[in-house]
Amino acid sequence: MVHIMRLWNVLCLTVACHLVVVHATTLGVVHTEGGMVEGINKKLGLLFADYIDIFKGIPFAAPTKVLEKPEKHPGWTGTLKAKDFAPRCMQATLTQTDVRGSLDCLYLNIWVPQSRKGVSTHLPVMIWIYGGAFLWGGGMGANFLNNYLYDGEEIAVRGKVIVVTFNYRVGPLGFLSTGDSNSPGNYGLWDQHMAIAWVKRNIAAFGGDPDNITIFGESAGAASVSLQTLSPYNLGKIKRAISQSGVGMCPWAIQRDPLFWAKNVARNVGCPTEDTAALVNCLKITDPRAITLGYHLDLTKLAYPLVHYLAFSPIIDGDFIPDEPVKLFHNAADIDYIAGVNNMDGHLFTGVDLPVINQPLHKISPDDVYKLVAGLTLQKGVEGANATYSIYTQDWGGSPDQETMKKTVVDLETDYIFLVPTQLALAQHQQNARSGKTYSYLFSHPSRMPVYPSWTGADHADDLQYVFGKPFATPLGYRPQDRDVAGAMIAYWTNFAKTGDPSQGESSVSVPWLRYTVESGQYLEINKKITYQSVKKNLRSPYVHFWSQTYQSLPNK
Ligand SMILES: *[C@@H]1O[C@H](CO)[C@@H](O)[C@H](O)[C@H]1NC(C)=O
Ligand SMILES: *[C@@H]1O[C@H](CO)[C@@H](O)[C@H](O)[C@H]1NC(C)=O
Repeated sequence: MVHIMRLWNVLCLTVACHLVVVHATTLGVVHTEGGMVEGINKKLGLLFADYIDIFKGIPFAAPTKVLEKPEKHPGWTGTLKAKDFAPRCMQATLTQTDVRGSLDCLYLNIWVPQSRKGVSTHLPVMIWIYGGAFLWGGGMGANFLNNYLYDGEEIAVRGKVIVVTFNYRVGPLGFLSTGDSNSPGNYGLWDQHMAIAWVKRNIAAFGGDPDNITIFGESAGAASVSLQTLSPYNLGKIKRAISQSGVGMCPWAIQRDPLFWAKNVARNVGCPTEDTAALVNCLKITDPRAITLGYHLDLTKLAYPLVHYLAFSPIIDGDFIPDEPVKLFHNAADIDYIAGVNNMDGHLFTGVDLPVINQPLHKISPDDVYKLVAGLTLQKGVEGANATYSIYTQDWGGSPDQETMKKTVVDLETDYIFLVPTQLALAQHQQNARSGKTYSYLFSHPSRMPVYPSWTGADHADDLQYVFGKPFATPLGYRPQDRDVAGAMIAYWTNFAKTGDPSQGESSVSVPWLRYTVESGQYLEINKKITYQSVKKNLRSPYVHFWSQTYQSLPNK
């Protein structure tokens, strides 16, 4: 008996006492304004933090009503098990023949890294806003073999920040507007604002610092980030922001004729179109699936470039967006801001407008280029088309080769759709700033799509996999150089979330990323080898000058 006791003591010393030391660090049940929530706690490898608490599917607003602003969630009793992603907001499938998702969709997901020493407190918070042309998307992102694109774990663990992702409404249910009070629109933006405000009120209970909130997003999500920082409704809520390939001044970010598209949907579902009150009353009693499918984005035989067909976008409603975005930068004066583009962001769009650019055996002609230019410059007529064509072809010489012409077309669309508006937003931000700092980047790690020509650079959305750390999460699919890119981006992004300076913070970076000013035009080129030569100046300034000065001064047609 004594012998057994002694053995037990030994076991206690070596096993049980050890168990106390390695006991999981977890938040357990968390109190939020709506009620208690319980997520899952996951043990990590030995590197970085030791545990991560993951909450999936916490409601931040009530189930949505068609063409109405989001409302506060009534709350729940007991403990909500927050272990599964909620459905997306209702949207067309990619083939646009069916719908997926739900009206009950305003949920968010939270990743909280924990160290062995105890639960985290005062962590910086990064809130992700997804892209998808304001037509598609979900807070978890596309799923490939149970690996979700917007899984926040790699950013949270490597950068020691809380990551939040959430759903917002898209398509007609997110943005249909009659341009008057019957359907003022911007429902998706109000949803985003509700999520940001919920995080501000509740994130301290998860160990986050409500005064240290960064919003970041890509494409339509990046334009959303920009618009959220420009809206007076978010004053004091957002400390920092990152726009990856999109700003509020992009030509597709604001719908100028929402009534045209509202009528288009109404007609397709058999609602009246002449009286906007009758139109909206009818849509509110129509099957939301029919409304969603009442708009169809054609991708073939387009009369004009694709960018003109993005129908359901934010509008200047005189409320959430009180004026032209370019005039609202005083609202972002104390927000630190990073904005950047991919060097061939326009490639995806050019591939739709002019598919031959990806077909080595097919040739394009100067006439094809002129037609595309004319399609982008309709507003300024022949004069605008000629001026644009002449600056983009100035280096062609007598007989340009195919690669030169094809790259010119990609440059043209990259500039028009993303790069030039981003440079204007950077300049506005810096010139209106009080405490807010401004940083600019160009992402140029080439696309790995095997079917693309060898000259293809970083295509639209190529940056996502690196920011979300996929080369670490699924190492077999990537090369060491891809992990270098991912490591650098996560370090710069999370340092910025902590300090407002991408080079200052716990994660070491190879080169200091210098602040952008209008005078210096400094930006960082991000690719597999970031050196002092990667700090550059005046990104495509002759073209930025052309579009923002010369082109603007031409008379409208
Ligand atoms: C536009 O360019 C075409 C072709 O170079 C030329 O024939 C035409 O006169 C130009 N039009 C204007 C208004 O500049
Ligand atoms: C944000 O978080 C960092 C790192 O935890 C901290 O140093 C800083 O004081 C916090 N607050 C603000 C407003 O930056």
